[in-house]
This record gives sequence, structure tokens and C-alpha cells, in this order.
Amino acid sequence: MSTLSFATVVVALVVSANGHDCTKYNLTPSDQSLIDMMTHYLHTSRKADCPVTPSQHDIGVTYVRWGKKTCPENSDIVYTGQVGGNYFSNKGGGSNYLCLPNEPENGNVSSNSDEGLYGAEYQINNSNNPSGFPTNLYNKEVPCSVCRRKEKISVLIIAGRKSCYKGWKSEYNGFLMSSNKNHITSDFICIDGEAEPLNNRSSNEQGALFYPVRAKCGSLRCPPYKDKTEVLCTVCTK
Ligand SMILES: *[C@@H]1O[C@H](CO)[C@@H](O)[C@H](O)[C@H]1NC(C)=O
Ligand SMILES: *[C@@H]1O[C@H](CO)[C@@H](O)[C@H](O)[C@H]1NC(C)=O
Ligand SMILES: *[C@@H]1O[C@H](CO)[C@@H](O)[C@H](O)[C@H]1NC(C)=O
Repeated sequence: MSTLSFATVVVALVVSANGHDCTKYNLTPSDQSLIDMMTHYLHTSRKADCPVTPSQHDIGVTYVRWGKKTCPENSDIVYTGQVGGNYFSNKGGGSNYLCLPNEPENGNVSSNSDEGLYGAEYQINNSNNPSGFPTNLYNKEVPCSVCRRKEKISVLIIAGRKSCYKGWKSEYNGFLMSSNKNHITSDFICIDGEAEPLNNRSSNEQGALFYPVRAKCGSLRCPPYKDKTEVLCTVCTK
């Protein structure tokens, strides 16, 4: 091998090695459009594998506002309706209250005789009316609304307070109510302090009956609680 041709080979090797390591080069417009196409393809084909990260605006919490046909400021109404529950003197059946929509989609007539869904009435008059609670609701039916508070991620119902803890916002407050202690057992619910009637009908048709709950000291520590007091409640969001 001549010196000249040896030198040529060395130069060629150096050039090709330099060419391989080179990172500073200009992309032509067609290179760039090829890269854009690949990027777009990978993004669309792999999107399904990505966890969904909802935007701040999409998130929200829902709660029932018992005793009102409207939602508080800053909450959107999902639907409004009538409180449903079990008949006050039944021995079995449901024990929770339901916020039944005003636009039901009814099932077919059934031959079973297990009637277990009734409307709820306020069983509240001068003898048991909580302080500041409307006085004209005796035997009236109870409305409710399902509300959605956007941009919050937690919702909490507190019995025993009318205000929320620091960092939480009260959506509404009112009085803890349930069935009468001599009637069927049912849930505690937080009835809005400015409760309203479903409509002006007042025919005492019975059904699920709401009575304000009163505190009883003993196993319930007093203080901090107080005997024979109305129990306050609130729905908080954060
Ligand atoms: C009621 O019954 C009819 C006839 O059997 C049936 O077509 C329909 O789907 C039923 N409706 C509901 C809500 O189940
Ligand atoms: C007030 O309500 C209580 C409890 O439901 C009932 O026993 C009483 O008869 C009611 N009083 C009047 C005046 O309607
Ligand atoms: C109840 O409301 C209806 C419809 O709004 C009205 O026509 C009726 O007079 C009201 N009845 C009473 C007793 O207020």
C-alpha cells in the first residue's frame, strides 16, 4: 500500500467518524414535517394510555340540599325534587331519605305489595320548631335539590356545628332532623335552616316524617354538648 493511499483511507475514516458524531446539522423543511407527522402519530396513538388529568374547571363535588328547591350561590343545580322515604310506622324497609327527581322515569305497575316509598312531611309546629326555622311548614311536603359545586374536591356533612372548619366553605346550614324516636328508624339529615314547602298543599297524608333532633347528655359528653339543645348541622366543601 502506498503512503498516499494509506493517508486517503485514514482521512476517509476520520471524516466518516466525524459525520456519525455530528449533532449540529440543519433540518430541511421536509425532515421537520416528517418529525411533526411522527410526533402527531405517537401522541394520538398513545393518548388512550395516558391517565386523565381533569382541569381545575372540570372537577367538582355533589351534595343534597334538603328542604330547598334551589342550590346555594356558586353551586349548579343538577335537579330538584321531592324528599322520599319510608312510611313512619312501617317495621321494615328503607331507612335512608332520597332526593327524588321531579321528572321520574316510572317503571311498570308491579304486583308486589311492598309499598315502601312515600313523600316526606315536615312534622314541625310550635311545639318543636327550632329557633329561626320557618313556622308554617307543619304537614307540608319536603323539597330537595342535588347541587354541584365546581372546583372543589371534598364535601363533608358536619352535625353539631353550623360553621365549617378553617379552609372549608359552608354551602348551607340548618338543623339535624330524622324520624321520631317512636317511629321507624331512619337516617339523620341536615335540613336547610331556611327550609321551604314543596308546594302549598298541607293535607297530612303522612309518609316519612321529619322531626328536629335534640341532644341528650350522658354518653354524649356535656360539655362540650348541651342537654336538650337543637342540633345544628352544615355541609362544607373544600
Ligand atoms: C314495561 O313492560 C313493557 C312490556 O312488557 C316493556 O316493553 C317495557 O320495557 C317495560 N318498561 C320498563 C321500564 O321496564
Ligand atoms: C304539633 O306536632 C306534634 C308532633 O307531631 C303533635 O303531636 C301536635 O299535635 C302538633 N300540634 C298541633 C297544634 O298541630
Ligand atoms: C296554592 O297554590 C295554588 C297554585 O299556586 C293556588 O292556586 C292556590 O290558591 C294556593 N292555595 C292556597 C291555600 O294558598
